[in-house]
Amino acid sequence: MAFERVLIFDTTLRDGEQSPGASMNQHEKVRIAKILEEMRVDIIEAGFPIASQGDFEAVQAVAREVKEAVVCGLARSSKGDIDRCAEALAPAKRGRIHTFISTSPLHMKFKLQMEPEVVYQAVIDSVTRARTHTDDVEWSAEDGSRTEHDFLCRCVEAAIRAGATTINIPDTVGYTVPEEYHDLIKMLFNRVPNIDKAIISVHCHNDLGLAVANSLAAVQAGARQVECTINGLGERAGNAALEEIVMALRTRKDYMPFETAVRAELITRASHTVSTITGFPVQPNKAIVGANAFAHESGIHQDGVLKNAQTYEIMTPESVGLKKSNLVMGKHSGRHAFREKLKDLGYVLGDNAVNEAFKRFKDLADKKKDVYDEDLIALVDDEVVRENDRIKFVSLEVVCGTKVARQTAELELEVDGVVKKTLATGDGPVDALFNAIKQLTTDTQHLQIYQVQALTGGTDAQAEVTIRLEEAGKTVMGQGADTDTLVASARAYINALNKLLVKRERTAPAALSA
Ligand code: KIV
Ligand code: ZN
Repeated sequence: MAFERVLIFDTTLRDGEQSPGASMNQHEKVRIAKILEEMRVDIIEAGFPIASQGDFEAVQAVAREVKEAVVCGLARSSKGDIDRCAEALAPAKRGRIHTFISTSPLHMKFKLQMEPEVVYQAVIDSVTRARTHTDDVEWSAEDGSRTEHDFLCRCVEAAIRAGATTINIPDTVGYTVPEEYHDLIKMLFNRVPNIDKAIISVHCHNDLGLAVANSLAAVQAGARQVECTINGLGERAGNAALEEIVMALRTRKDYMPFETAVRAELITRASHTVSTITGFPVQPNKAIVGANAFAHESGIHQDGVLKNAQTYEIMTPESVGLKKSNLVMGKHSGRHAFREKLKDLGYVLGDNAVNEAFKRFKDLADKKKDVYDEDLIALVDDEVVRENDRIKFVSLEVVCGTKVARQTAELELEVDGVVKKTLATGDGPVDALFNAIKQLTTDTQHLQIYQVQALTGGTDAQAEVTIRLEEAGKTVMGQGADTDTLVASARAYINALNKLLVKRERTAPAALSA
């Protein structure tokens, strides 16, 4: 039986990046874009080119690298925004300009301070301008779910007449509920005369935890594009989670007869990569990609699953690319087997990256009896993510315990290619370590979050540390993993600091202080 297609529009690199602290550099965006393309996402929104030179270059780089998916850039309604977006998308095989303006009374009055008729004209002018650059134009009615119906119908009709091929009705503030949003989309199908000339898209935020439910309700009303992000990353409470939309449509085809082109078996890898790059951990009970999403703790459930997995599993862990915790290899495994294992896990790395990762694998296998897939994935992600870092971890020795008056940390870092060493004290080993990092780099940043969790079971498990740093209102996240919690802490802090440096460079290039 043939099912109707729903297009998946991923905005991890644009709306996802708007999460405080989730900024990504060009290299990281390209890496995520390649995974999204491999997953067969239909449209990848790569960024907001007018926002900064860094954003412009990142969209350009994604446009250059991605061959199959449509690459999209965001633009407000001004000519300057739209032309800059088109310039960034120039190298794309298939490029889309996504232009938007607010249409709700509240936004028009207070945010835009524009009369509705001026907004209406801006809709026509912006879409017309975008069409001079490409045939693929999406128009969004920002705060669409709180827009008056008559005005929304007029704007949608005008945007289609001006040449928009996709019309997006965002629930910008995550305010709507499924039935209401369903009826809104149905209302547009009933009232806009040229609605059949465009694809209707939905874009839901998760402020009330309803983003996925609202998106699915809209699909049932006729929407055929869903905008979403990996891990539900996004402004405030985030956007609709791609993995939840895809798996809901797949698992409940009996109720929702639609399909996407997404290769669901790549979901786990995409989730992990986005989490490592952004430093945003995935909550353990998160649907589809949380560590507990397929874990059965209670005896009754375990017994049922052993007798027949379907008793408590509505989808298999394998269908989202989750493999049973596998013993990878021991310390005697060779480079060839290591490379093959990486391929198996979906990583195709260059020789240098494989060599570096192999060295770290050998170190890990020396310290840890059993090396699992999770360990290997963390190690490789760490290696690739840190490839272009200005600050690199070299070594650490910490003296702590009850017999010393003050804990000390002796730390070596490579900063801009030069190895530097220092000794610092602190109230506890973590404080001493972070003081040492500050001595070798900068100390204007403030630690906001410090979290430790075990990657796998066992007392020799690697610790995964997550850190959030803040400076002048800007936040960044960092992650690091190691069997030694303090080394993992150092890696996480340095990871966050490298991101902060990129942020600083975007505003005012500055040398490191030490
Ligand atoms: O949430 C929103 O309204 C948006 C638009 C720019 C599409 O992100
Ligand atoms: Zn949004």
